[in-house]
Amino acid sequence: MRMTGARLAGVAMAAMALAAMGQAVPALAQGGAGDVVAERKAGLKQMSGHLEAIKEILDSRGALEPVAGRAAEMQRFFETFPARFPPGSDTGESRARPAVWSERAGFEQASANMVAALGKLRAAAASGDAGATSTAFREAGGTCGACHRNYRAR
Ligand code: HEC
Repeated sequence: MRMTGARLAGVAMAAMALAAMGQAVPALAQGGAGDVVAERKAGLKQMSGHLEAIKEILDSRGALEPVAGRAAEMQRFFETFPARFPPGSDTGESRARPAVWSERAGFEQASANMVAALGKLRAAAASGDAGATSTAFREAGGTCGACHRNYRAR
């Protein structure tokens, strides 16, 4: 499988999220569609956690350095995002729409837009400009929603 590295990273993240929830970690060697779905959902929950943490920092006018760190971590996740949706992983508990696979170019573009938006957020936070960071944060949140409108079932 070509995405072994991404899978390993995904499994590590899913494992951390599941460990945090006190659940068993899915076996790495098995790698069925169910594991792929569970992994990406755990990763996405972590992404929501990052956004919430960033919002708290911005609301409380905290130091922006951790915002840059979280944005960088999110960027790494979304760089491998399309690979987390291999053909056949539209099963079980997935809310991914068929368009993820049938309109692949659009899905990949939406992922690339997310990486770009997170890059802006990271750069703004690293520059220490709170206003620019808040603007970039809103744009990043909007970029999550833009993909969900087309590719995630309600
Ligand atoms: C390129 C498309 C895309 C982008 C960008 C995207 N998502 Fe999603 N998201 C999806 C899809 C597709 C699903 C459904 C996945 C599934 O159920 O298999 C989903 C599901 C989710 C879920 C539900 C996970 C669960 O446990 O069911 C959360 C939470 C989430 N996304 C958060 C985010 C956040 C936060 C961002 C922005 C930082 C984001 N997403 C950006 C496509 C995207």
